[in-house]
Amino acid sequence: MRAQPALVLALPTGRTPIPFYRYLAAIHRKKRVDFSRVTTFNLDEFVGLAPSDPRSYRAYMQRHLFDHVNLSPRRIHFLNGIASDVEAECRRYERAIARAGGVDLMILGLGRNGHVGFNEPARFLMARTHLTRLAAATRQANRALFGSRVADVPRSALSIGIGTILGARRIVLMATGAGKSRCVERMVNGPVTPELPASFLQLHAAVDLWLDGAAARLLRGARRLPEVGAAAQSRCGR
Ligand code: GLP
Repeated sequence: MRAQPALVLALPTGRTPIPFYRYLAAIHRKKRVDFSRVTTFNLDEFVGLAPSDPRSYRAYMQRHLFDHVNLSPRRIHFLNGIASDVEAECRRYERAIARAGGVDLMILGLGRNGHVGFNEPARFLMARTHLTRLAAATRQANRALFGSRVADVPRSALSIGIGTILGARRIVLMATGAGKSRCVERMVNGPVTPELPASFLQLHAAVDLWLDGAAARLLRGARRLPEVGAAAQSRCGR
């Protein structure tokens, strides 16, 4: 942000980025970063939840980041989970990303089943922003936002597509904890397959993985990774 004040960021939710958002808020408080010209797009939102619903991803972002930095509200972009015309909403989002000049830096989390955004493992993936059905494992993983009641977790969501992700100029994927290690290993060394949507990151030339030791534990010889796929350079686990 210091080098490029009008940065266009794409942002994830989940437990993993919470310390990152706390860090951004802290360096903003110390006046070391200015968000006033930054634009943000979030990756996804539950269908059926209004932005004001405390269980929505919009509310999550408000709590963890937006309330603590000087982002201009008109530069914050979100998918509307209660849009009456879902297809028009998805098209609107793609147009907004294009109008912003594309995403400079896409920050991703990693689902335990290998999803990115809400691009779930499937026989095929959607390139652009779309309506998606959530996997049972994903609804389980998101239950904390819903008072631990899985039955209350929406069955569908809106998500940017895998093409939208690969269209970003740079990508950072964050993963922490041993529960993600198998997925991390398959994402880096396995085949590119819609059964593990994160494996598509191997097709991008500028990806950084931010992993803790537990998530990186199956990446033996991380320094050799550029031979496997230039996209998959792990800076962790060394
Ligand atoms: C949700 C989000 C993803 C996120 C994933 C991982 O399903 N839609 O964007 O990456 O959770 O969550 P966590 O960081 O809590 O493991």
